[in-house]
Amino acid sequence: MTKPNIIDAGDVLVLGAGLAGIFTALKLAPKRVTVLAGASCAKENGSSGWAQGGLAAALGPDDSPALHLSDTLAAGAGLVDEGVARIIAEEAPDRVRDLVAFGVPFDRDDDGNIVLGREAAHSKNRIVHVSGDRAGAVIMDTLWHAVRAEERINVLSGLRAVSLVKRNGRVCGVYAVDDTADDLTPVLILAGDVVLATGGIGTLFDVTTNPAASKGDGLAMAARAGAKLADTAFVQFHPTAINVGRDPAPLATEALRGEGAVLINGDGERFMRDAHKDAELAPRDIVAREIKKQISIGNKVFLDCTSAVGAAFPDRFPTVFKSCMSAGIDPRVEPIPVAPAAHYHMGGVVTDHDGQTSLDGLWACGEVACTGAHGANRLASNSLVEAMVFGARISARILSKPARKQIVSGVGIGPCDERLLMPNTEEGERLVTKIRHIMTRRVGLVRTEESLISALEEFDRLRAEDDLPLDVFNMITVAEIVAIDALLRRESRGGHFRADLPSTDEDYAHRAEFTYGDLTERIAAQVGLERKAG
Ligand code: SIN
Repeated sequence: MTKPNIIDAGDVLVLGAGLAGIFTALKLAPKRVTVLAGASCAKENGSSGWAQGGLAAALGPDDSPALHLSDTLAAGAGLVDEGVARIIAEEAPDRVRDLVAFGVPFDRDDDGNIVLGREAAHSKNRIVHVSGDRAGAVIMDTLWHAVRAEERINVLSGLRAVSLVKRNGRVCGVYAVDDTADDLTPVLILAGDVVLATGGIGTLFDVTTNPAASKGDGLAMAARAGAKLADTAFVQFHPTAINVGRDPAPLATEALRGEGAVLINGDGERFMRDAHKDAELAPRDIVAREIKKQISIGNKVFLDCTSAVGAAFPDRFPTVFKSCMSAGIDPRVEPIPVAPAAHYHMGGVVTDHDGQTSLDGLWACGEVACTGAHGANRLASNSLVEAMVFGARISARILSKPARKQIVSGVGIGPCDERLLMPNTEEGERLVTKIRHIMTRRVGLVRTEESLISALEEFDRLRAEDDLPLDVFNMITVAEIVAIDALLRRESRGGHFRADLPSTDEDYAHRAEFTYGDLTERIAAQVGLERKAG
């Protein structure tokens, strides 16, 4: 084992440079913060910059946090933690004001009021946008500008965290590697507190709207460190990714359906009208499964925006317009081919109301966290706002604690697990593709006991291979955590649909919490499946 280099990250190490990560870092003033931004360009690593939808906040005269709360509860299909959803609904307007103070130019009407748009399952217009569909990109640009102006925030690029480290049982940093190198020599990065803001797991599936870095690294690290996890079965598939064979798949924002765009099959039929009273604005899981049904009987599916948006496309939805035009589709005059794509993970690392995880010294916010806000199905445009509400709460709690005396040495810290130090290879790429296929076919939009067990058997076979590259090792860990939770949840609810158990069962109307270590025992006790621990 090579002796690691040691980096002093200051008071707080933030893992991840999406909205959750950099907003938390900005709110932590005057603490000295290091943001670990991942392998390449910090700005391109997170999903936040790709968000088209905007942020949900009860800002309209006819709206209230109570209505926002009730829509969030309804979307979450019985699993939303009401206290958490209330916090978000009540604090969302202040977080939008924070962004205004940072200089985010939200779309406004002629009187200077922020324009509020509508999305599925919101009872009021409450989505704030920037330049139509550019909210994520503009918010991230604005906040990066603020980060660059802050001397106390150090952004570290080129390193990828692979393992949380503890001293005396308390999380105090990470091992990180340069995963583009041939030799993954670990670097030890130490800090007073660690904030996990590493995003989601979309890249575990064949088709995703998430950036390639969304491989569940943070979830895998927290799981191995023994953190409490919850509801990992719940993956939200966005119904309308643009289906032009790109990976990741560009998104056709739900706001288009909010504007009246309709879904049609190759025969021009509006199939959603027969499927749900809200037609195209039904909950995402329902729309996504109806599209999948069409595709599985050989139909193509299109989002027809020609009447609802037409000539206004370039101004109203510049991002979608650009994605379509670059694929040779003019959405002003022709329908956009669409397919469902893995979009958001509702489950993750359990936190309390202040973003504290079950591990001392470790906090979590953004998609990697499971605050309880989204339950079984996230309400559109609630994720950026959740990331900021919890980023602000984590910062407030850290700032209220006495400063921790930092020990910048490796004393008392074990070595990095050698299994995390295997470089990625071409063969590794092949295995990654295989895992993504398995997840899509057997742990995707529609699951059964049989499909989930066979996925787990495949993961066991893969795991048995020697010297698995880092990506494969991590992805199997996360894939297994999702598949086992899905197997244990013997019902259908929100983003989790079991074709063999299509009804919702009141016995499961609660959050499923567990540690990685618990899973093998639970699966043996509840489903009778004996497994070896991973
Ligand atoms: C969208 O613009 O459709 C995505 C918004 C979200 O997932 O919250």
